[in-house]
Amino acid sequence: MLAMNKNRILGATAIVIAATVVLSSCKDKRSTGWEYAPNMYEHIAYDPDQANPNFKDGKTAQVPPAGTIPVGFVKFDYPNTKEGYELAGAQVKSPLFLTSKNIEEGKVLFTSFCSPCHGQHGQGDGEVVAHGFPAPPSYSKGQSSRGGNMSDLTDGKIYHTITYGVNAMGSYASQLSPEERWKVVMYVHQLQKTL
Ligand code: HEC
Repeated sequence: MLAMNKNRILGATAIVIAATVVLSSCKDKRSTGWEYAPNMYEHIAYDPDQANPNFKDGKTAQVPPAGTIPVGFVKFDYPNTKEGYELAGAQVKSPLFLTSKNIEEGKVLFTSFCSPCHGQHGQGDGEVVAHGFPAPPSYSKGQSSRGGNMSDLTDGKIYHTITYGVNAMGSYASQLSPEERWKVVMYVHQLQKTL
């Protein structure tokens, strides 16, 4: 007898809870229903696409002030021209320390991104060259199409080349972060010494 009453009470409670949930979630069509953590839906911060009375143009997404750069953004103010290449070659130095860890990481990146054309040892004999792609000059024995020995290419010239590409070689700016590019530059310097 007692057990049956208990079941009835439990059953009734369950029905009341269910009815409350159903009714409260149907109040209005745009409602998100029962919000478990309302501050996830109704946060204090403005959404980027939301109207905003705090700014003159009434928008939340503002254009950054002229001359500002994002935190962590690395500037490279040398244009993709012969002059930009020469200037970078003379002025830009690697910001990284010469460590075996950096060289090792440069080697890994070089093997993935550059060796298919330049070859494991930078001799211009990569896999795709064997299939007819124009051979890049050897880093240690070749001549640069922009003048001088490949073995004399400076930090800035190699960085400029990775950033913009040159002739048949494309830009690697979207594949390699500035820091990764400098690691690759470090490894190319090693290959310039290949006998
Ligand atoms: C698709 C093939 C290909 C890939 C991949 C490639 N290169 Fe090249 N690279 C070339 C060719 C071809 C040249 C010669 C271009 C010319 O001077 O006409 C060249 C030239 C260069 C030069 C000489 C630039 C100069 O000033 O003469 C450097 C340095 C260089 N590459 C570095 C790299 C590095 C570092 C990578 C990897 C991030 C890379 N390349 C990836 C094909 C490639």
